[in-house]
Amino acid sequence: MSERELSTDVDEDRALHFPPGFLWGAATSPTQVEGKTCNEWRSFVARDGSTCDGTSTHWTQWQRDFALLSELGLGAYRMGLDWARLQPAPLAALDTEVLAQYRTMIEALTHDGIEPIITLFHFASPTWLSEAGGWEHPQSIEYFADFVRRVSDARLPVRYWITFNEPGVYMTMAYLIGLFPPHRRFSFLQAGRVLEHQGLAHKLARRILRDGNPEAQVGFTKHFKRFLPYRPWHPLDEINVRIIRTFFDDRVLAAFMEDGGRAGCDFLGVNYYGRMRVKGFGDVSPVSGAPAALFEQFGTSCDDMWEQDPHWFPTLLQRLGKTYCVPMIITESGFATSDDGLRQRLLDEHLLALHHAIDAGCDVRGFIYWSLFDNFEWAEGVSKRFGLAAVDFSAPDMPRSIRSSGYHYGAIARANAIHPR
Ligand code: BGC
Repeated sequence: MSERELSTDVDEDRALHFPPGFLWGAATSPTQVEGKTCNEWRSFVARDGSTCDGTSTHWTQWQRDFALLSELGLGAYRMGLDWARLQPAPLAALDTEVLAQYRTMIEALTHDGIEPIITLFHFASPTWLSEAGGWEHPQSIEYFADFVRRVSDARLPVRYWITFNEPGVYMTMAYLIGLFPPHRRFSFLQAGRVLEHQGLAHKLARRILRDGNPEAQVGFTKHFKRFLPYRPWHPLDEINVRIIRTFFDDRVLAAFMEDGGRAGCDFLGVNYYGRMRVKGFGDVSPVSGAPAALFEQFGTSCDDMWEQDPHWFPTLLQRLGKTYCVPMIITESGFATSDDGLRQRLLDEHLLALHHAIDAGCDVRGFIYWSLFDNFEWAEGVSKRFGLAAVDFSAPDMPRSIRSSGYHYGAIARANAIHPR
């Protein structure tokens, strides 16, 4: 792929079309956008002092947010069901009001021709599960299966389900680095158990959802990062890159896929956010959330979270396609930056790379940008701006305004095409 400038003014002669029916969407997750949080993140205070409870209003103002999707002309919305909100106690019936609201939301999407893609676990457990030992405890599998069974019985008009979002990130952040609840550090044994339990829970959940609806497409999402040695000549950096790849990629995929990897999901959700360099043991650069200016040493494009690597995107997709033989959906890709021009450029570069991969035979069915609007970026808080729409967090009703990169993305989605200028 060349670094040529891109534009979306549709010039049919040079337009690079995506396959017919390609899903164009945007994503959010319950804890990051809903507000009125009732899960284990409720009292968490991020580095910038913000909290998920006080900085989001999607639960009460979802209609306003869904209007953004229509204004942008997007055909898919990835959202989640908050387990804690829906199921107030282990094995209990689902809260009828909450279920009714989720149903109304999902029906509003389908009514507008927007495909709902629903995540069931996105980094947030109910507090009752944490108190009962969390995902370390084998009973978590039964609890989750019970939740999924009840959701399946509710017959929501959903075709695409994501059981777990980024189990490798969850295991790392919650049990090795300790930035996410339950804030364990270097707990390698527990981390392994959590992964094993979530992998089993995923397989069970898939069976439940498919028994409930044979048409259901059930997958999970995996965060893929390109890990590189910080000092290519240093054996320690290279060794650690291999260790990280084994834990973060191989073990996660083995736990979630069945039959040696080829089955286990109807689609693989690929979340792609670029690359990281590994120095010695445990030291990675850039550290998530560092200001972009600190990344100048790499001489590549960096947003306020990571070093970007659109050129590796096709390589990754081709490798995954060959290994797993299941369709893929890019369930997340996005950029944290207050420089909207940078967001637009990075978006174009990633979409051009994606087009290249599809052209080379990769079975990718959709692209879901992270995120529809600015939201609570976990340990970093609201100061990291990923949104296609900006949110003014200082105003009581937190108004949204679509950024120019958002309109640009909408134009690509409507045309189902992008082209180099
Ligand atoms: C997660 C999102 C998160 C995004 C940006 C992904 O790892 O699924 O919840 O906000 O990356 O960090």
